[in-house]
Amino acid sequence: MENTFYITTPIYYVNASPHIGHAYTTIVADVLARYHRLHGFRTFFTTGTDEHGDKIAEAAQKAGVTPKEYADRISAQFRALWPELAVTNDYFIRTTDPNHVDTVRRILQKVYDAGDIYFGQYEGFYCVGCERFYMEKELVDGKCPDHQTAPEYRKESNYFFRMSKYQKWLINHIEENPEFIRPERYRNEALAFLREPLEDLCISRPKSRLTWGITLPFDDDYVTYVWFDALINYVTAVGYPDGDNFRTFWPVAEHLIAKDILKPHGIYWSTMLKAAGIEPYQHLNVHGYWNVDQSKMSKSVGNVVKPLDLKDKYGLDPFRYFLLRDMVFGLDSSFSEEAFVQRINSDLANDLGNLVSRSMTMAVKYGNGKVPAPTAAVAEDRLLRETAARTVTEVEACFAELGFHKALIAIWEFINVTNKYIVEREPWLLAKDPANRARLEAILYNLLEVLRITAVLITPFMPGSAAKIQEELGIANPAGQNFATIREWGLLPPGNELKRGESLFPRVEIKPAEASTEPAKAKLPPIKPEISYEEFEKVDLRTAKVLAAEMVPKSNKLIRLTVEIDGERQIVAGIGKDYKPADLVGKTIIVVANLKPAKLMGVESRGMLLATDTEEGLTILGFDRPPKTGARIR
Ligand code: MSP
Repeated sequence: MENTFYITTPIYYVNASPHIGHAYTTIVADVLARYHRLHGFRTFFTTGTDEHGDKIAEAAQKAGVTPKEYADRISAQFRALWPELAVTNDYFIRTTDPNHVDTVRRILQKVYDAGDIYFGQYEGFYCVGCERFYMEKELVDGKCPDHQTAPEYRKESNYFFRMSKYQKWLINHIEENPEFIRPERYRNEALAFLREPLEDLCISRPKSRLTWGITLPFDDDYVTYVWFDALINYVTAVGYPDGDNFRTFWPVAEHLIAKDILKPHGIYWSTMLKAAGIEPYQHLNVHGYWNVDQSKMSKSVGNVVKPLDLKDKYGLDPFRYFLLRDMVFGLDSSFSEEAFVQRINSDLANDLGNLVSRSMTMAVKYGNGKVPAPTAAVAEDRLLRETAARTVTEVEACFAELGFHKALIAIWEFINVTNKYIVEREPWLLAKDPANRARLEAILYNLLEVLRITAVLITPFMPGSAAKIQEELGIANPAGQNFATIREWGLLPPGNELKRGESLFPRVEIKPAEASTEPAKAKLPPIKPEISYEEFEKVDLRTAKVLAAEMVPKSNKLIRLTVEIDGERQIVAGIGKDYKPADLVGKTIIVVANLKPAKLMGVESRGMLLATDTEEGLTILGFDRPPKTGARIR
């Protein structure tokens, strides 16, 4: 039977322009789609925009246009962005598309007819940002934990989906299919939600309050709740209920989302599917959040990273590489331009770029501009072949567990083994003596064959660079290159005309002049979002006298301090590179005294010392005049 693969991204709200977070999810989906195509899978990849609801209506009103005009404008930005990022989606869905509206109404009617939608009263706290009700205990200081805004209290009659009815089924399903929600931490999070009784889901809004939505098929006075509408996009896109694509692709559906929307996908969507008599999706693949310079990305903080800015400045493939290399799938990651530039210079310019340019230069110079004929392998060549075969297997294993960064590490090990092979074989010396001709050609062939294999391995991540390498190698039919052709060594045809190309990844020069025009600004992390005085008051800062200090064994950075505050206590501080333990004894320092205890290299720390950066390293915060021990810092 033909192998098939269906990958979806969330459909993005049209109340804001695309940023690096949207780009990440969509590029990961693209990497997966390309990878599966390279394995001969028939693949369907969909993305799109989520256009109904309060949030969009509010944004449109602010902009002084109708919701539809507003949605058209922002949706077009998303649609236009994807080709610029080499994203190869097969479909782009908008929740305002007529076929989607029909599908939503059809499913609502089906669930209603089955008796799983009923009319009732609702009151509670509603966060417009999340488009959902919150239980009081979910709020933090009365505010939405995600948006830090106070929710509205709403009371109205509405339609409800009997989600509670499917709680047991869902728990069983997750337990019997451990990979249903992955990685494991998110499966556990979903199971934790399900430990509490599941409430029924309010799935409508009265038109008296909101008209920007899909009208319920069984009550004209109400529109559908955004999530009930949006989630259904995943089946609309493949032509539910009887399109060919639905039959082919729904059974292999892979959803890709970030942790922010785990609950709607893990809980609402799974139970909605069950109620509608549709098979569950295969996997919910959940990744972490991109922060920027350690803080949450937000418009008000002004640290939103725009994907096109980065692509224009550093190139598309480096951008895609960086996103996949610097995030461990499932965990949060922090974006910094510095780290990005470092990756470009070391992994791309130095490692891969150099391998391609050295190999091509030598092959053209010593091999008459053509791929030489391979000869029987000697032991050192066999090692290279084995590394190639092992890398292909390893990359496949990494993809199976969504370990994209690990796949790249494996590919880079192969690249570096080959760079070492060049240094050790010294082809430039062999070229001096015609007696070494056969050996030289064998080495050159091996290098070009490594490039052929590498090009396929990096295609999902960096399709443009892979195509350039294939062009340099004179590969006549790049579309014929895939994982099947790299399992075998020696498929690069001898005699291929080589075409030396331009440097693949120019180094990014970090000009000191550039840095010095705006020195402090460029380096400072952005100021964090505002907090109230009450929130600040929660932090208990105290003066502390250092009674004893010693290095933590096996660490060159951590110092264990015994300090006096309200009695003796132990804290651990990472200042060992800047201070000697003996120099600390007798000093009065400032400590966050009510920080939850934590273990650093197995040593418990009950508090945290305050320090800051200087040109030469860290400096501890101190006092002009000696303060009392244990005094509060105000
Ligand atoms: N419209 C809903 C989704 C409906 S899907 C049926 C929505 N839209 S959104 O515009 O807010 O997009 C959320 C998604 O964008 C996240 O799940 C993630 O895929 C991506 N990201 C948004 N910000 C992100 C980061 N800072 N980091 C990583 N991905 C993030 O929720």
